[in-house]
Amino acid sequence: MEKLLQNLKAKVIEKSKNPDFIHHAWFVDFHLLFVEKLAMELCDIYKEADKDIVFALVWIHDYAKILDKSREHEAEMLERSRELMMEIGFPVEFINKILEYLEIFESKMTVDLNIAPIEVKIASSSDAASHLVGPFYSIYFWENPGKTVPELVQSNRNKLIKDWNRKVVLPEVRKAFESKHSFMMEQTADFPDKYFS
Ligand SMILES: [Fe+2]
Repeated sequence: MEKLLQNLKAKVIEKSKNPDFIHHAWFVDFHLLFVEKLAMELCDIYKEADKDIVFALVWIHDYAKILDKSREHEAEMLERSRELMMEIGFPVEFINKILEYLEIFESKMTVDLNIAPIEVKIASSSDAASHLVGPFYSIYFWENPGKTVPELVQSNRNKLIKDWNRKVVLPEVRKAFESKHSFMMEQTADFPDKYFS
């Protein structure tokens, strides 16, 4: 299994470097590797979590976006993830489990991830927390020069709120990243009522 997982990681990294992918210059170093790091650390806390499932979820969760950002939410894109895992040689039951969990992960706006399997909670919380460090939100400004400043600020604020309210479900992650979340919200002009009292 270790070999298959490393193969999955290598294949996703390779695809992420495709210049047609808008985030190709930074996605591996400033997103995926950090999501992996957070998720593996959380597996040491949540020992009941299946580490192989978490690792696979981390590396497959943005695969649709990497292949075609404009179609990332289409059902067909889920099949592309299945094809990749089949090509690598993962057992069918494992692939079915990953895709089932990926669908829960992706349904965050309609499904309460607080009641999701622990592996989904770890992957989802790590994904959202990773956005709060590194250049993730600044890169959005750089990648969208056609938007006005108010539009850029509003988009980042919407993402910050959605991530925090729907995706960061583990208490350890909320505690460790709360101050970073507040700091980032201030970057979108969400100011406290008072600063000096
Ligand atoms: Fe992600």
